[in-house]
Amino acid sequence: MIKIVLLGAGNVGIHLCRALQNKEDLQLIQWYNRSLNSLEKESVPFAVTQNLNDIIEADLYIISVSDSVIPSISKALEGKKGIIAHTAGSISMEVLGAHENHGIFYPLQTFSKQKEVDFNQIPLCLEANQQENLNLLKKVAQAIGGPVHLIDSAQRKALHVAAVFVNNFTNHLYTIGEELCNAHKVPFSVLQPLIAETADKIKHLPPSLAQTGPAARGDQKILEDHLQYLTKESHQKLYQLISASIQQQ
Ligand SMILES: NC(=O)c1ccc[n+]([C@@H]2O[C@H](COP(=O)([O-])OP(=O)(O)OC[C@H]3O[C@@H](n4cnc5c(N)ncnc54)[C@H](OP(=O)(O)O)[C@@H]3O)[C@@H](O)[C@H]2O)c1
Repeated sequence: MIKIVLLGAGNVGIHLCRALQNKEDLQLIQWYNRSLNSLEKESVPFAVTQNLNDIIEADLYIISVSDSVIPSISKALEGKKGIIAHTAGSISMEVLGAHENHGIFYPLQTFSKQKEVDFNQIPLCLEANQQENLNLLKKVAQAIGGPVHLIDSAQRKALHVAAVFVNNFTNHLYTIGEELCNAHKVPFSVLQPLIAETADKIKHLPPSLAQTGPAARGDQKILEDHLQYLTKESHQKLYQLISASIQQQ
């Protein structure tokens, strides 16, 4: 049985807490969070604490707090023999280097407390300072279901930057699309099949070959027409920048 302490009850912490429960070979034995209210809302059948001095002995400590706080939480775990791992995309494993056993347990997905996720579909990117530690992280990842990838810190950073482009930037563009629809009283839902097809198409074609639209066609007249149509300067700038990037490619 692998005994686990989870630190953090934010967007990722909440979902990890649910995923780590009721799994053969895993036992979540304690959950820490700075404020107690998130922990209490979940009503879990194991110890919860908001005091870092109360953290108990475990085989694995998963730190899932804001990136800037990882060093201080890591320091509070000094002397623990179990593996100390964090869940961040862009923080190197070295930040945990003071611990004899350390690693990374990075779930590559977008998490929000309000939206359920299926861990069977979430790639788990693992790294550890020793093979034995990596083996334990693999067992935990396999128990919660995600496809496992052995990814070093440099690769993880590349993945995280790529994820910002494909997820955060894309979502920002959805927001602009919604704003344009709202301004003209068209339901944003009319665009949903297009959004779904765009995401589906790149399962079959490389994204560079899947590109369509006025910029890819070199249709200067439509590009200028759209630029004149947009009223916000920030939207015009984005339109120009992304169109130029598509054309350069
Ligand atoms: N969200 C994602 O989509 C996603 C995906 C993959 C990986 N990650 C990574 O997972 C980690 C957690 O992200 P998240 O989205 O769950 O963050 P979040 O929702 O913003 O939650 C932040 C967590 O950090 C705690 N915290 C903040 N400041 C603290 C402090 N000074 N001392 C102690 N605890 C503190 C918060 O406690 P309180 O509840 O008391 O505020 C909360 O538990 C980050 O390393 C992030 O890069 C996030």
